[in-house]
Amino acid sequence: MGIGLATGITPDPISDFAKKANIPAVLGGQPVRTKDWPDWPIWDSTTDQELVINVLQSGKWTRGDVVAEFENKWALTVGAKRCLAVVNGTNALIASLSQYGIGAGDEVIIHPYTFISTIICVLQNGAMPVFVDTDPETFQIDAWKIEEKITSKTRAIIPAHTLGMPADIEKIMQIAKKHNLLVIENACLSWLAEVNHKRIGTFGNAGCFSFQTSKNIPIGEGGAIVSDDEEFMDRCYSYHNYGNPYGTVVRPENTDGGTVINGTKLRITEYQAAIGLAQLKRLGRQTEVRNLNTSYLKDRVKDIPGIVPMKLSRNVTRISAWMFPFRYKKEAFNGLSREAFMKALRAEGIPCLAGYVTQNDKPYLKNTFESKNYRRMYSKKELDFDKYLERNQCPENDLLCQESVWFLQNMLLGSQADMDDIVTAIEKIYNNSASIKQ
Ligand SMILES: Cc1ncc(COP(=O)(O)O)c(C=O)c1O
Repeated sequence: MGIGLATGITPDPISDFAKKANIPAVLGGQPVRTKDWPDWPIWDSTTDQELVINVLQSGKWTRGDVVAEFENKWALTVGAKRCLAVVNGTNALIASLSQYGIGAGDEVIIHPYTFISTIICVLQNGAMPVFVDTDPETFQIDAWKIEEKITSKTRAIIPAHTLGMPADIEKIMQIAKKHNLLVIENACLSWLAEVNHKRIGTFGNAGCFSFQTSKNIPIGEGGAIVSDDEEFMDRCYSYHNYGNPYGTVVRPENTDGGTVINGTKLRITEYQAAIGLAQLKRLGRQTEVRNLNTSYLKDRVKDIPGIVPMKLSRNVTRISAWMFPFRYKKEAFNGLSREAFMKALRAEGIPCLAGYVTQNDKPYLKNTFESKNYRRMYSKKELDFDKYLERNQCPENDLLCQESVWFLQNMLLGSQADMDDIVTAIEKIYNNSASIKQ
C-alpha cells in the first residue's frame, strides 16, 4: 500500500522496507543478508582440545607416533600405499619433483589457472615450466592441448586439480604413458575428490596435498605426499629429514654415520598431526555438505544470464568443493565491471574473491630467468624471455582470470537458505545493474 508523501500521512513502514529491499545495498538499500557465515576453522572444544593437550603434556612434540598415525590414516583414506606429512603443500610438490630427479634442462607441463606453488616447485628444482592453456568450461588444464607442448625435454606433467574439482586425469595419464612422463598431481585442494571412484592424488606417480588453515583439512600449516612408489617415498622421507638414511636410502658401507642424500627439513610436529586427526573425523560430513550446496547453487544460478559456473571434467564421481567458482559476464549486467559486481555483492552481505591471477606473465619468472643459477643452467636462447612468453601464451586462461569470481568454502558449509541468499543477491544486482553502473 504505497502512500504518497503529499497526503501528509506517515509512510507505511512495511512498504518502505520492501522498497529498500529492492534497492541494491551498494546504493543505500537494505542488504540481502546481515547474518554471519559459518566460522572457519572449526574445532571441538572438548575432543580436539584433548588430543592437542595430550600431545603437549606428553612432552613429545617433534615427529613421532601421532604424525605416523595421521600419515597412515591419510594413506588409507585416499587409497595410497604410503603417505609422508610435510610442512606444507608447496614443499610437498618441491620434494616430489626433486626426488623424481627433475632438474636443470627438464621441461614440466603445468596449468596456469592455479596457485603459484604449482610453478614454484618447477623453478625451485631448476626446471622449466611450460604452460598449457585452460579449458574454458572446466577451468582445468586443457588435456587436448598437452601433446602439442611435449618436446624431447619434457619430463613431467603437473595437473593442478583446480579448486578441488578433478582435471581430466584419465586422459592425462594416457598421454603420460604414451610419452613416458611422470605425473605429479597437485591435489592440494582435492581431499576426497574422485574420478571413476578412484581418489585424486593416486593416479599419478605422486599426489601432493595441503592442510593450510583455509583448506578443508585445516591444521595451520601442513602438507602431504602420497604414492605407491616405495623407493620414491623412502627418498622423500630421507629428504624431509636432512637426508638421513631411511628404508632403501642407506649409508654406503664403510661410512661412520652422517646423511646420505642432499636433504632438508620438512617435518611437521605432533600437535599439528593431532589437529589433523581431529579434522579428519569431520572431513567426510563437511565435504558432503559443501558438495550438496555446490550442486544446489549451480542449479539455482544456471538461469541467471551472465553467471557461468565451472563444469566438471569427464567421469568425476566426487568433487571436493572448496571455493564456488564461476565466470561473471559483464555484458549480461549492462557492462557492470567485475569489481563493481563484487563490491555490490559484498554490500549485500555476500563475501567473494576475484580468484586466480595469470601466472605466465609475472615478474618472478623473469627474475628467475635472470638469476645466476638459471644463467648457468640454460643458454641465452633458452632464457629469451620474450620468446618464452610467446611460447607460453594462454589466452583462454587470461580471459578466465578477468572474469572469474569465487564464493568461499566456509559459505558452502551453510544451509540451503544461505545459498538462496547468494542467489537473491545476484538476482538483485542483475535487476539493478544499469543503476549500479551509473
Ligand atoms: C592449488 C594449490 N597448490 C598448492 C598450494 C600450496 O599449499 P600450501 O599453502 O600448503 O603451501 C595451494 C594453497 O593454497 C593451492 O591452492
